Amino acid sequence: MLSIIFLSSLILFLTLPSHLESCSCMDFPTEKEGYCATSWISKVKVVSKETDGLGLMMSYRLEHLKVYKAPENVTLPEVMNTATQESACGQTHFKVGKQYIFGGSAASNDSLLITFCDWRVPLKYIDEPKLEMKPTWQKFVDSVGKCPALPTH
Ligand SMILES: *[C@@H]1O[C@H](CO)[C@@H](O)[C@H](O)[C@H]1NC(C)=O
Ligand SMILES: *[C@@H]1O[C@H](CO)[C@@H](O)[C@H](O)[C@H]1NC(C)=O
Repeated sequence: MLSIIFLSSLILFLTLPSHLESCSCMDFPTEKEGYCATSWISKVKVVSKETDGLGLMMSYRLEHLKVYKAPENVTLPEVMNTATQESACGQTHFKVGKQYIFGGSAASNDSLLITFCDWRVPLKYIDEPKLEMKPTWQKFVDSVGKCPALPTH
């Protein structure tokens, strides 16, 4: 009996930390909800990336090639931050020199934030060889119309 208790608490001890540390995301039930939760979407080129002194945040420098969505009165800045740990939902694998269509839930004039949990534009809307939005994207955006106001960050 005692050994069973010992064993089960050992298992708990061994499995709990990794479970707690994993990045878990909320699902977006509809494309509209995903789009509306996304404050910025942009086709970018990654110019450089570096990690802060503490090793907690990674900072990418971007060149915006085409901005698809931005909060009112915000000019998307060149700096995009993410956590360095995947367990903290960081997105650390983007490559310098490559182009991407990025989106995230937080944007100010000073910095953008991207996490693993951010909504991604469904691939059906992207002409992948050209990395451009297809005409159906604009139709989708028009069909969404005005999103409910996002909480300001
Ligand atoms: C954007 O700027 C305009 C003009 O300065 C202002 O009237 C409006 O309230 C601003 N919108 C937001 C969301 O801050
Ligand atoms: C962002 O910068 C623009 C231009 O400098 C300014 O008009 C706007 O108010 C700023 N927006 C915010 C949210 O601070």
